[in-house]
Amino acid sequence: MAKLSIKDLDLKNKTVFIRVDFNVPLSEGGREITSDKRIRASLPTIQYALEHSAAVILASHLGRPKGKRRQDMSLAPVAVRLSELLGRPVRLAPDSVGPEVAAIRPKPGEVLLLENLRFHSEEEANDPDFSRQLASLADVYVNDAFGSAHRAHASTVGMVSQLPIAAAGLLMDKELEWLSRAVKNPERPCVALLGGAKVSDKIEIIENLIHVVDELLIGGAMAYTFLRAKNEPTGRSLVEPEKIDLARQLLEKAGEKLKLPLDHVAVREIKPGAPHEVVSRIGPDQIGVDIGPKTVEAYSALLSAAKTIIWNGPMGIFEMPPFDAGTVALAKAVADSGAVSVVGGGDSEKAIKSAGVSDKITHVSTGGGASLEFLAGFELPGVAALTDKAAKIAEP
Ligand code: 3PG
Repeated sequence: MAKLSIKDLDLKNKTVFIRVDFNVPLSEGGREITSDKRIRASLPTIQYALEHSAAVILASHLGRPKGKRRQDMSLAPVAVRLSELLGRPVRLAPDSVGPEVAAIRPKPGEVLLLENLRFHSEEEANDPDFSRQLASLADVYVNDAFGSAHRAHASTVGMVSQLPIAAAGLLMDKELEWLSRAVKNPERPCVALLGGAKVSDKIEIIENLIHVVDELLIGGAMAYTFLRAKNEPTGRSLVEPEKIDLARQLLEKAGEKLKLPLDHVAVREIKPGAPHEVVSRIGPDQIGVDIGPKTVEAYSALLSAAKTIIWNGPMGIFEMPPFDAGTVALAKAVADSGAVSVVGGGDSEKAIKSAGVSDKITHVSTGGGASLEFLAGFELPGVAALTDKAAKIAEP
């Protein structure tokens, strides 16, 4: 069901509450932002609201302070960075609710950033009274926090029904558009590239994507659980013994679609600079740490024929070069394919950056957990809560 967009709203002289995901990585002690990507990603929505004469209240969580006020998880550095990026003052409220916050009342053209929502345990508990207090600050609600859309919290779900209208922000719209395009109506052939350490993290995605994609290319340590399910040797590689049966069932369901590595980069000890060799069968004392060159070639050929690519997770121990070679090579193959490419997950994003191909990827999601749940076919509560486009049209 299509949801209202901020573009459908009349924002003039209204106070708009925009839930953003400014859960940015911070240096030790919480003083410096090490990546402002999530702040930049919501700039278009904030600017749109300001250009349409709205007073803007922004709200986000940062980290997991578990209901306690923590200086190292304050949004203060975010307010500073946002102000630099917007080129206008951003006032940081002393809290997210309470009389002092309610009294601030920003004017059209002004930006108020509430302090970390998770300083109150009521946020994650989706507490009705906390939701009411948040809703009482504004006239309309906009959710631009795609990265938090899989959480049913007060600021993403509870408060939404307390305001007359709730729309998606421009980032939220963009995320949903590209992810839906990839999963719901992809141009074919559609190829998924899935990696990462554990099968258990990706079961639902694999089950969902089996019905969507034409090819499912598996890499990363989770490939070893699948290889074990086929009675192939995995040596001392990471295998989830309790998931072997499930892997066997997934192999049966997927049939020819599911591809496993043809060769591996193997070591005897996981450490930087460890001697390594390329093998087609992993020896008893060896550990697989990356896909090998034959796999890179085979997977690259399938990627280059694709019209849509969904990628989540690295192909090996990416953080320990040279075991990032397979991941980086496939990042280049994804970029060169000319396909619509949708990427989720921090490690795949890092691979794209280190391969120098960021500008050739159609969409890199800002949501880790949220994009996984979307790819797994789950409805995101933060999206479900927004006003349906049809409901607005039906209004008198
Ligand atoms: C994220 O970084 O994935 C989102 O901001 C959600 O954070 P959470 O996992 O702490 O709810």
